[in-house]
Amino acid sequence: MSGGNDFGLIGLAVMGQNLVLNIESRGFSVSVYNRTPATTDDFVARHPGKRLTGCHSLADFVASLARPRKLMIMVKAGAAVDAVIEQLIPLLEADDIVIDGGNSLYTDTERRDAWLTPLGLRFVGAGVSGGEEGARKGPAIMPGGPASTWGVMRPIFEAIAAQVDGQPCVMHIGPGGAGHYVKMIHNGIEYGDMQLICEAYSLLQAAGMSTDQMAAVFEQWNDGELQSYLIQITAKALAQRDAETGKPVVDLILDKAGQKGTGQWTQLNAAENAVVISTINAAVEARVLSSQKAQRVVASRQLQGPPARLAVDHATLVAQVHDALYASKIVSYAQGLDLMRTMSDKKQWALDLGGIASIWRGGCIIRARFLNRITEAYQDDPALGNLMLAPFFQQVLNRGQMAWRQVVAQAVGAGIPVPAFSASLAYYDSLRTERLSANLLQAQRDFFGALTFERFDGPAGRWFNTDWPEVIE
Ligand code: 6PG
Repeated sequence: MSGGNDFGLIGLAVMGQNLVLNIESRGFSVSVYNRTPATTDDFVARHPGKRLTGCHSLADFVASLARPRKLMIMVKAGAAVDAVIEQLIPLLEADDIVIDGGNSLYTDTERRDAWLTPLGLRFVGAGVSGGEEGARKGPAIMPGGPASTWGVMRPIFEAIAAQVDGQPCVMHIGPGGAGHYVKMIHNGIEYGDMQLICEAYSLLQAAGMSTDQMAAVFEQWNDGELQSYLIQITAKALAQRDAETGKPVVDLILDKAGQKGTGQWTQLNAAENAVVISTINAAVEARVLSSQKAQRVVASRQLQGPPARLAVDHATLVAQVHDALYASKIVSYAQGLDLMRTMSDKKQWALDLGGIASIWRGGCIIRARFLNRITEAYQDDPALGNLMLAPFFQQVLNRGQMAWRQVVAQAVGAGIPVPAFSASLAYYDSLRTERLSANLLQAQRDFFGALTFERFDGPAGRWFNTDWPEVIE
C-alpha cells in the first residue's frame, strides 16, 4: 500500500524538525517518524495547519508515502543509521529512495549503497550543511548516490536548498559515497577556516586590542575579500556580552575545543592518499592540544618563552593579519581541493570542483564570497592542478606573502602559537621551492638502507647507489 505524501523524514531532533518545516514550506507534504512517538505527536501538534503526517510506526510511515518513496534518515551517524535501514528494508519496494542526511563517514555510505542496491533500493548519502538555521532556511546539500535519483530528488532538493544569485546550493555530487565524502572535506576546510580565524584573534589580542575593537575589525573584514559566514559570526561572537557579568562572553569560555570527528576523518583520508593538507592537520591538532588543558597549565609554569605580547601599531598589524589570513585560507582550500581531485581520480567520481565551490557559496558553514573565484578558476582551466597557480590566486598570494611572513615571524618571536598560519606558509614556500633539501634525505636513505636515488645529471627514473663509508661508533 502506498499513500500520497511527497517526502518522509525519520529522526525529529532539531536538524530533522527544521528540515521538515523547510520542505513543507516549499509545498511538499511530509510524513514524520521518531523513535519516541511523543516527540512526533508534539512536533505535529506544534505546527497545526501544515501538511504533516505524524506516524507511530515505520510501517505506517512507509505506507503514507507516494512511490517511488523518498525518505530521509536524520539520526546520529553510525550504528543508529544501520538500525533504521534494517527496519525499513522489509517495508520498502523496488526503486524507493533512502537518503541519509547525517554526517556519515563516506565508507559507511559506500557499504550501505552496496547493501541496498542488490535489494532494488536506491541509497543517497547526502551531506547537509548549515546547522539548525540552515536546515530551516536553506542548507547546502551534497547528495551522492545513483544518478537516477537526481531527477527524482532534484525538485525537492532545489526547492529547500539555499539560493545564491538564483542558483540553488545543491548538485548531484557523484556516485556512491561521493556526497558524504565532499561533506567531509567541507568540514575539514571548516576546521581550517575556524583555526585560522582563532589565530588571527590571538594576534590582535596579543597587541592589546579589546574584544570590541576586534569585533569591529572582523566586521570590517566581512565587507571585503574575507567576507564569509565564519568571519561574520566571529564579529558577532566577540561583541557579545554576558548578561550576568557584563564581560565579553568569549572571555568567559574555557579554551578547550570540542570536535565530533569529521576533521580527523579528513586527516586519515589525506594520509591514506599521500595528499598534503597541512592547514587542516594543524587545525585538528590545535583542537586536540587545546583540549589538554591540565597539561598545558602545568607546562605553562615550567617551559619558558617570551611574553606573548606584540608591541606593534594596531592598524599595521590588522592589515598584515588580514593578508596572512587570506593567504592561509587559499592554501587550505588548495589542499582540500587537491584531496578531492585525488579521490575523484581514484574512485572515478568525476567531481566537478568548480561546481562544488559554487554550491558552497550559500547555506553551509564555509559560505564565502571568495568561493566565486574558485569556481571561476576551474571554469578558466578545468584541468587546474593546484588552486594556488590560478592567476587570480597567484596574484593574491604574491601580494600578501610578505605580510604573511611578518605575521608568522612576529608570532614566533613572541611565542604565540600560530600552527595553521605557519603550516600554510611552509606549504606555500615548499611548493615554490625548486630545490628542496630532499637530496640529503635520499642520501640518508641510501646510506642506511641502500634505497637508491635519482641524480640531477642522470636520466629521470634511473636509480643510483653510492658506496657510503662505514660508521664506527
Ligand atoms: C555543518 C557542520 C556540522 C558539524 C559542526 C560541528 O556543515 O553544518 O559542519 O556538520 O557537525 O560543524 O562539528 P565539530 O563538532 O566537529 O566541530
